[in-house]
Amino acid sequence: MARIVAGIGVSHVPAIGAAMDRGKTGTPYWEPLFKGYEPARKWLAELAPDAAIIVYNDHASAFSLEIIPTFLIGVAERFPIADEGFGPRPVPIVEGHSELAWHLAESLILDEFDMTIANAMPVDHGLTVPLSVTCGQATAWPFPVIPLCVNVVQYPPPTGARCFKLGRAIRRAVESFDRDMKIVIYGTGGMSHQLQGERAGLINRRFDIAFLDGMTRDPQALSRISHTEYMREAGSEGVEMVMWHVMRGALDEDAAEVYRHYHVPASNTAAGLLILENRSGA
Ligand SMILES: [Fe+2]
Repeated sequence: MARIVAGIGVSHVPAIGAAMDRGKTGTPYWEPLFKGYEPARKWLAELAPDAAIIVYNDHASAFSLEIIPTFLIGVAERFPIADEGFGPRPVPIVEGHSELAWHLAESLILDEFDMTIANAMPVDHGLTVPLSVTCGQATAWPFPVIPLCVNVVQYPPPTGARCFKLGRAIRRAVESFDRDMKIVIYGTGGMSHQLQGERAGLINRRFDIAFLDGMTRDPQALSRISHTEYMREAGSEGVEMVMWHVMRGALDEDAAEVYRHYHVPASNTAAGLLILENRSGA
């Protein structure tokens, strides 16, 4: 059977991708952030997963505010890179895994999660930056990717607890796929940040570190943080952190933290990275 062997929580700050694309990762501003990514890249290369599920949000690239899916799964064979206003990022096209994605769609919907199905869509920095952060500047991504979008752009987003339950259902779906595959799941977005208004530039290190700690220590309790608390403590865009709960819900209750990296600032946000492994083994 297929198995989820590990989870990665990672910020998807667009400026991180731009720093890579423009060759700026060695500058004094960016170097400390990128140094911290190196152990994660080594870990992932050694793990060599057969596929990844990347939980992220679209930033009005594939969908406008005319249609807002709460949860969506991409079942295409490949996903082009979105043009977010400066041309598409110069990164490889994202190859999908249509067979597994359709299996997940069927399993999740029959398990009472009403997924929207995307047969074609571009993917934006929400998905490509986590790939760049964890895989480096590749000529082709090392594994196929199943994009899974969560609405965190238009109120109301799903609750963290609902996201956690979706993670549980994803795990059941993966384990019912009759193929020997190692799967990694990403939860992306956050950490604390607010892009507009009087509190623009808000960073709450205490909240972010407690969130990273809680991912290992008590993920179920962590998943019950309310939208109001995210906005108050982590800024209006900090609500993206609900997507980490999808990743966490797909792992063992006692999954082990194997690496973390937290850095401020990355553009006007905090950047976090957390790797959790299932003890049941890769
Ligand atoms: Fe985002």
